[in-house]
Amino acid sequence: MQQRIICGDTIAEMKKLPSGSIDLIFADPPYWMRTEGVLTRVEGTDFDGCNDDWDQFQSLEDYDKFTEDWLTECYRLLKPNGSIWVIGGMQCVYSIGAIMQKLGFWFINDVIWHKKNPTPNFMGTRLNNSHETLLWATKSKKAKYTFNYKTGKELNNDTVTEEAFAKGERKQLGSVWRIAVCQGTERLKTDNGNKLHSTQKPEEILYRVIAISSKMGDVVLDPFGGTMTTAAMAKKLGRQYIMIERDETYCEYGQKRLDAIEFEDTPIARAAYDEKPLKVSMEQMIAAGYFTEGEWFYFKAGDGVAQLCADGKLNYNGEIIDMHSCAAIARGVKANRLNGFDYWYVKRDGKLVSISEVRDNYRQSLK
Ligand SMILES: C[S@@+](CC[C@H](N)C(=O)[O-])C[C@H]1O[C@@H](n2cnc3c(N)ncnc32)[C@H](O)[C@@H]1O
Repeated sequence: MQQRIICGDTIAEMKKLPSGSIDLIFADPPYWMRTEGVLTRVEGTDFDGCNDDWDQFQSLEDYDKFTEDWLTECYRLLKPNGSIWVIGGMQCVYSIGAIMQKLGFWFINDVIWHKKNPTPNFMGTRLNNSHETLLWATKSKKAKYTFNYKTGKELNNDTVTEEAFAKGERKQLGSVWRIAVCQGTERLKTDNGNKLHSTQKPEEILYRVIAISSKMGDVVLDPFGGTMTTAAMAKKLGRQYIMIERDETYCEYGQKRLDAIEFEDTPIARAAYDEKPLKVSMEQMIAAGYFTEGEWFYFKAGDGVAQLCADGKLNYNGEIIDMHSCAAIARGVKANRLNGFDYWYVKRDGKLVSISEVRDNYRQSLK
């Protein structure tokens, strides 16, 4: 189990790692914010934005060269079916995206992180900048990357209200994520009580990213570790991690943060919602007594339509047909086949029961 913080320059340290060894990369690189002077709030106090030494570059060429160098290493380190997420604001995301495409990365999605509580534009000189972009990409178009689709639905509180979620409503996770900027107790402080890092990312972003695009035990790399948010969520979700950060203070505080985090064995961590159900055949279920040769198959509101044969096919007016084609013929639709498990019912204790439910019960009995 790799759980490493490497304190050093990211490009030099990445060069020491073996090619094709990483399942998932999350990168939150310097943005090159180019802020000048002191930002002042409307009421006159100074705003502590990102003006750190690590965010300074001489020119666009300088920034692009740095970006191309670290992304080249990411490309080398990523497994063929791995994927990479890069987060950036308007200052850098266009350069980063262009360089990623030049290097051969293939975009899967660009996700808008819509900040619920953005920093205001104090002077009122332009629109309030209330989002950042996450680029999600693979090494090639053909990559069979991990996407825990149903886990994403379980994490969707953007388009499903808490009330509807509690009632069982689920919707596809979209590409606009409404998440608050890191704040409160989640925000790391120095021993003096000051904010440790100017761009600490919210755990919820990393939790989503890791939960939907990696598996338990996968190796997650973050080339710009900062306060180690990526490692914190990787550890919580049972993934391995390699974090690179050149600032020793961030590494020290980050390690303390990680020491306090425990793995939480949850269906989200295991992507249990995405587990493929066990394949079982009708013949197996007949042998186990879940169905009986000769019993009638019904549509939801109808009379008996066809009778079950010993091999799992149906006898429909003397013709022996597989249950999926039979469903299409008996319903008189244009399609050649319908999924029989969505259409057929059998009688149990005088009541109609979906054959899908009977199959679920059989699967359950095998566990
Ligand atoms: C945007 S911050 C990452 C914040 C992090 N995602 C978090 O949640 O705390 C970028 C980090 O990259 C580090 N960094 C910048 N250039 C670096 C380099 N060449 N090698 C290693 N770390 C670097 C900075 O010290 C900074 O902590």
